[in-house]
Amino acid sequence: MQDKLIQIRDDAQNELKRAASDAQLEQIRVKYLGRKGLLTGILRQMANVSPEERPVIGQLANQIKQQINNELSQRQQQLKTQADKGDKLDVTLPGRRIKIGKRHPITQIIKEISDIFLNLGFQIAQGPEVEWEYYNFEALNIPADHPARDMHDTFYITDNILLRTHTSPVQIRVMEKISPPIRIIAPGKAYRCDADLTHTPMFHQIEGLLVDEHTNFAQLKGILEIFIHRMFGEKTSLRFRPSFFPFTEPSAEIDIACVMCSGKGCRVCSHTGWLEILGAGMVDPAVFENVGYDPEKYVGFAFGMGIERIAMLKYGIDDIRLFFENDIRFLNQF
Ligand code: PHE
Repeated sequence: MQDKLIQIRDDAQNELKRAASDAQLEQIRVKYLGRKGLLTGILRQMANVSPEERPVIGQLANQIKQQINNELSQRQQQLKTQADKGDKLDVTLPGRRIKIGKRHPITQIIKEISDIFLNLGFQIAQGPEVEWEYYNFEALNIPADHPARDMHDTFYITDNILLRTHTSPVQIRVMEKISPPIRIIAPGKAYRCDADLTHTPMFHQIEGLLVDEHTNFAQLKGILEIFIHRMFGEKTSLRFRPSFFPFTEPSAEIDIACVMCSGKGCRVCSHTGWLEILGAGMVDPAVFENVGYDPEKYVGFAFGMGIERIAMLKYGIDDIRLFFENDIRFLNQF
């Protein structure tokens, strides 16, 4: 009888050690201590035990019952703390990285260009993207029948309201508001109905305008040379090529030596060795008259450039649409 009790205790202890859930613990409890359980069974047989042995066996049986009960609740507690731990933070694990956004490459280039001109004493000016035809064309010496209008592929909203086709209308808005000396740059969006590898209907430009009493073309050359050298490197060659804009006279387009082939000639520069990056010129007196400036007193120069084009040249990107598809794999490279 005693041996049987010891056996039951050992078995119960072993099973308790292996138990891994509350359900398993409950099964063990029923198996040993339940109404039809093994230990209960033994206690029922007490009647068969001799009167001398009875107290000894009885005591042992109760002791074992107590022991199994204790170990059962111990194991239960153990399992509970294990489960709790599972919910808690494991401080040894590496943290989850927070993804931090970056400036869009176009925004980066705008900032880079702006900083160069801010250092030269220019200030930032802005104007609306939905613009009067007057500011976009008329005031800039581009009358309704002027052939230059064809080149602009304008998005009209009404007969005289449009999406600005360049940032030049900001020149007019600034000159209408303040009098010289003026030294501003105007970065912003422009719109033209055009789409291919190098054109998107929305794109960015930076306009520059300087007006004072003794301004001259040599200063324009100097400023743009400084800009190009800071932007593309001190060794970049550039050239001024005569051109035409209705709002500047004389006008020039500025080319830099091809960034791909360093001027040797390649597909990117159409084998000329040069890339056009800027339009510029001395402010046409007719424009001064439109804003009420005395053309005899004031001289000015203006320039304009396409941001995407500069970004493409600087980073060697051959499709402008990449800037606006918002593919993270592309944007992450800057
Ligand atoms: N606005 C012109 C363009 O979009 C560029 C330009 C600006 C030319 C200022 C001369 C002076 O093509």
